[in-house]
Amino acid sequence: MTSSATIPSNPSPILACTVCRDVQNFELLIVDMEGILGEQWGDLGFDDALQFLAQPDAETLEFIAIAIDDYDEENLDLLLEIINAAKARNIHSILIAEDVTPASLHKLLRNGADEFIPYPLPEGELKELVAKMRSTPAPEAVTVAPTVALQNSAQSRDGVLLAVHGLSGGTGATTLAVNLAWELANSSKDNAPRVCLLDFDVQFGSVSTYLDLPRREAVFELITDTEGMDSESFGQALQEYEGKMSVLTAPPDIIPLDLLSSEDIERILETARQHYDYVIVDMPKTLVVWTEAVLSAAHVYLATMEIDMRSAQNAMRIKRALQAEDLPFEKLRYVLNRAPKFTDLTGKSRVKRLADSLSISIDVLLPDGGRPVMNGSDHGQPLGLSAPKNPLRKEIAKLAESLLDVDQSDPKAA
Ligand SMILES: Nc1ncnc2c1ncn2[C@@H]1O[C@H](COP(=O)(O)OP(=O)(O)OP(=O)(O)O)[C@@H](O)[C@H]1O
Ligand SMILES: [Mg+2]
Repeated sequence: MTSSATIPSNPSPILACTVCRDVQNFELLIVDMEGILGEQWGDLGFDDALQFLAQPDAETLEFIAIAIDDYDEENLDLLLEIINAAKARNIHSILIAEDVTPASLHKLLRNGADEFIPYPLPEGELKELVAKMRSTPAPEAVTVAPTVALQNSAQSRDGVLLAVHGLSGGTGATTLAVNLAWELANSSKDNAPRVCLLDFDVQFGSVSTYLDLPRREAVFELITDTEGMDSESFGQALQEYEGKMSVLTAPPDIIPLDLLSSEDIERILETARQHYDYVIVDMPKTLVVWTEAVLSAAHVYLATMEIDMRSAQNAMRIKRALQAEDLPFEKLRYVLNRAPKFTDLTGKSRVKRLADSLSISIDVLLPDGGRPVMNGSDHGQPLGLSAPKNPLRKEIAKLAESLLDVDQSDPKAA
């Protein structure tokens, strides 16, 4: 045994791999790969690819050529995983596709594949692409917010469900939902509750923007197949924010609100309540088939409004609609955003007149926090981080404090 012997580094490392169900279906690809790389390439099946990409041998790879045909379209999830694993190691992915629908191609390209060449390969195309790739620097490895590891556990935390619904557009529902979640998650140094924020404004939800989190395909998959959901898949659709709270953003593409049923919503809420002490839901401002599901499961349903005719009329309409359906209208707690200051006496009497005319009580008044509020959201941070002394932040922190002792028993059982 020699201690000074040096192991020669591999003289002909593997520079690329084809990834396909059966490479023999893509003979022209074999010919091109040999022409470009000689012996310095290998072939992987879909299942081996992930394993290989995790090994040190994969370090020398410049690209993978994923060759697919129409049979492989049912495996899109696995393909996306392979593409992401390659991306995480700065390896390019080139799609070689025969008879694949534009929808599938679009999905693969949008979610990380770098290039696409149709099969049969046009002469010289792959060679040109590889030359171009070699002359441009490798893509930056993407940093993705970590997902959340949840395990099935028999015991539920029976989380408190808080919903936030804007009675008209732009009245601060999302700002309240995001900041309330953050304040609850930071309400104690060593014994903070576990908090989960769900963006159910599935079309235009802006939680992802306000917290600078990417919208992920996993959310779409979760909410469109809730029957197959378990704790693990729920956790994988969530993202961790600053190590303090978990967030389910809206999905990447706009989906019809009625794609979701009340049962879907109930399942998601139940799973969330099982794992978290507080579940905060940002609702769409339209009433939808599943609004009732959230309303009846909620412990507190916060309705944001402003002191204007539009909010007043919408408040009246919603109140009537809920009463007509015999829904638990009394759960609504009205939040007046951009409320007049205490010193503004005429403002105060306007608030009182508004509440009297609607026969409601307005329990929570939130002040205008000025531009720092919008700036904080634009930077993807809650006020607690971007402007801790902001008056709006202080009021939301007080509201969070008051919600720490909500009776946790199931509202539906009441
Ligand atoms: N109290 C406040 N002080 C200052 N700015 C505020 C306040 N509340 C909300 N904003 C700002 O108003 C804008 C709209 O707020 P937000 O997105 O929270 O409303 P929304 O009700 O969720 O709107 P949408 O109907 O689009 O869902 C944002 O730019 C936000 O930063
Ligand atoms: Mg909103």
